[in-house]
Amino acid sequence: MQEIHATPVLDVRSLTKAFGATKAVDDISFSVHAGEILVIVGGSGCGKTTTLRCIAGLEEPTGGEIHLDGVLIASAQHSMAPERRGIGMVFQSYALWPHKTIFENVAYGLERRGLKTQEIRSRVDEALTQVGLQEFAQRFPSSLSGGQQQRVALARSAVLRPKLLLLDEPLSNLDAKLREHMRDELQEMIRLFDMTAIHITHDQEEAMALADRIICMRNGRIEQIGAPRDVYRSPVNRYVADFIGSSNILEPLGIEAAQGGSLIDFGSVKLRSTQAPDAGGAKPSIAVRVEAVELHASAPEGENVFAATVTKATYLGGNSLYRLEANGLRLTARASDDYTCGETVHLRIAPGDVRLIAP
Ligand SMILES: Nc1ncnc2c1ncn2[C@@H]1O[C@H](COP(=O)(O)OP(=O)(O)OP(=O)(O)O)[C@@H](O)[C@H]1O
Ligand SMILES: [Mg+2]
Repeated sequence: MQEIHATPVLDVRSLTKAFGATKAVDDISFSVHAGEILVIVGGSGCGKTTTLRCIAGLEEPTGGEIHLDGVLIASAQHSMAPERRGIGMVFQSYALWPHKTIFENVAYGLERRGLKTQEIRSRVDEALTQVGLQEFAQRFPSSLSGGQQQRVALARSAVLRPKLLLLDEPLSNLDAKLREHMRDELQEMIRLFDMTAIHITHDQEEAMALADRIICMRNGRIEQIGAPRDVYRSPVNRYVADFIGSSNILEPLGIEAAQGGSLIDFGSVKLRSTQAPDAGGAKPSIAVRVEAVELHASAPEGENVFAATVTKATYLGGNSLYRLEANGLRLTARASDDYTCGETVHLRIAPGDVRLIAP
């Protein structure tokens, strides 16, 4: 996490964007601080791209305001031209010019700004060196791999030293291995060029790995915003819990206040939570991360310990996914691969991992 300055680079206030009767973005507010990587996740059609397009100036808001470095750049009444905003954008398709060399692709924006040839050359050389592609300067995009093209697209944005970099699923065309590699490179490059970025992804692992903070959107609205660890450990509702990580979502028979939190009734099994009974609003569900369910061969010390039968064990390499049944309570766990189907095991769930969430 980079140092966070008091004035945000970007301040989005009550942003709304309607297309006819559809509110693609519905009254969202958030800010991004210098050096921060903010990641937006959420289901298809929830308004992620529209949010970025409003910030970039490719769409005009229906309501609300967007401020960049303290200057109003967009509202329903006012719109600064996209090229004057100092914002860089990288798309899923890298949108490189096929008939221009890598050098020319990266130089293009600087030429349009009327920089001197020598200055352009040195800045492009520097950017290509930083992304490790200086030897590719005279080649054409079609002769580069997807990952290399992605680096060119990034260099092309970075060379303009944008105040803010917007990335709309730039890694989603890559295969899983390369995506992981590029994710780390992307993060390094954003830090290296000292940029501030908003990144959209469908991939929750990518979101966790890249983000200083995550925004989870649904139906044009923000469901939750927070540090990856907080969103992961304390999702506010079922949508977020499902979207970030895998959770057991359980419906309790009853919840009562207990010492240091609440006692949750699942019939024969009762679980203590460190949260107050009203933490998830009226009629909450209970979320327990699959890796928060510990399996033990013999009953361990501590709270929330109960016996269960393994009804299915799926080997995942390194660990296993277990389906478990404890007197009608069905749970899924991800744990070390020491148990087999039919075996009786002892489960333990830390009270802090028993989360009350809005249904
Ligand atoms: N130009 C447009 N005209 C009409 N409706 C639009 C337009 N652009 C987006 N929408 C609608 O706005 C909603 C949000 O779209 P958006 O592209 O922002 O979603 P998204 O979160 O980026 O989805 P995905 O993950 O599939 O890329 C969708 O219902 C979409 O159909
Ligand atoms: Mg999109």
